[in-house]
Amino acid sequence: MKRIFSGVKPTGHLTLGNYLGAVRQWVEVDQHRADALFSVVDLHALTVEHDPARVRRLSRQAATLLLAAGLDPQLCTVFVQSHVDEHARLSYLMECVATDGEMRRMIQYKEKSVRARDTGQGVRLSLLTYPALMAADILAYGTHEVPVGEDQTQHVELARDLAVRFNHRYGHVFTVPKATSPVVAARVMDLQDPMSKMGKSHENQAGIVYLLDDADTVRRKVMRAVTDSGREVVHDREASPGIANLLDLLAAATGGNPIELAGVYESYGSLKKDTAEAVVELLRPVRERHAELAADPGHVDKVLREGAERARGMARPLVDSAYRAIGLLPAV
Ligand code: AMP
Ligand code: TRP
Repeated sequence: MKRIFSGVKPTGHLTLGNYLGAVRQWVEVDQHRADALFSVVDLHALTVEHDPARVRRLSRQAATLLLAAGLDPQLCTVFVQSHVDEHARLSYLMECVATDGEMRRMIQYKEKSVRARDTGQGVRLSLLTYPALMAADILAYGTHEVPVGEDQTQHVELARDLAVRFNHRYGHVFTVPKATSPVVAARVMDLQDPMSKMGKSHENQAGIVYLLDDADTVRRKVMRAVTDSGREVVHDREASPGIANLLDLLAAATGGNPIELAGVYESYGSLKKDTAEAVVELLRPVRERHAELAADPGHVDKVLREGAERARGMARPLVDSAYRAIGLLPAV
C-alpha cells in the first residue's frame, strides 16, 4: 500500500487556504487511498521568532481542526511531530548528507531570512536546516507521496535528492518520495491582496479567512474582498484576480466550475454574497465539530498519543537502519 505523509505548521490559525489547498484533499481522498500520516509539525514552528505558549496552543488547535475537518484516526495516523523523536534523530543524518549550498538555494529560506534580517531579528540556524528536518519527516516513514502545495515542491525535491544520495552512498534504506499536487484543491489568494497566497502569518488579517472565524466575520471579509473597478464578472486571473479568486472559492465550496459560474453573475455584489454564504456553509460543520472536540480535550490527547505511538513504530526501524548504514555503532 502507498504511504503518504504531509504536515501543517502551527505558526498561525489554519486558514481557508490550508483547508481547500490541503486538508480537504487529505480528508476526502488521501486517507482513503493510502496508508497516510498527517502531522502537526511543531518543530518547524520554531524556525522563526515564536511565543512558546502560542505554539503550544496552536498545535493543539491544529490537531483538533484536522480531526474536526474529518481526518479519521481509524483510517490514518494523526500526530504531533515532536512526540516522535525519530524526526529530530533522522534530521541530523540528513544534515550530514546535504550540503550548505543546497540549503541556501531554497527559495523559502531566501525569502524568510531576508524578512527576519529586516526586522532586526537574527536568522535562526534552524531556518536554514529546515529542509533537512522536512526530509527526515518524509523519509522516516518510507513515504511514496507527499501531497503539498506548489510552494513546498522544492523542499520535497530536496528530500528526494537526499534519499537517492544516501541510498547510493550507504546502501538502500529510503524510499524515494515524490510531491503530488492535490487534484481537487484550489490555490486560495488573499482577499485583500489577490496576487498573493492566503497565508496564516500575513499581517493584514482582513484578507484571511480562518477556519474558526464565525459566520459574520467570514461574511464581512468576503464582502470586503478587493476587486477591480470593472463590472463584468469574468474569470481572468491576470486582469481580474480578485474576481477570479472569488469564483474559484465559490466553485471549490460548491463543487462548481469557476468559468461557468462567471456567466451566471451580473454583478460583483451578488457574486460576493453567494461566495460568502458558500464559505460560511463550507466551514460550518468544521467549526461545530471543532467546538465539540475542544470540549473533550482528553479525547484529542488520546488520539494524538495513539497516533504518535503508531508513527514511532513505523519510523523507528527505518531510522535505526539508517543509523547503522551510515556507520554508527548500534547500541546493544
Ligand atoms: P502551511 O500553512 O505552510 O503549513 O501549509 C500547509 C498546507 O496548506 C501546505 O500543503 C500548503 O501548500 C497548503 N496551503 C497553505 N496556504 C494555501 C493557500 N492559500 N492555497 C492553497 N493551499 C495552501
Ligand atoms: N514545510 C511544510 C509547510 O511549510 C510543512 C511540512 C513540514 C511538511 N514537514 C513536512 C509537509 C513534510 C509535507 C511533508 O507547509
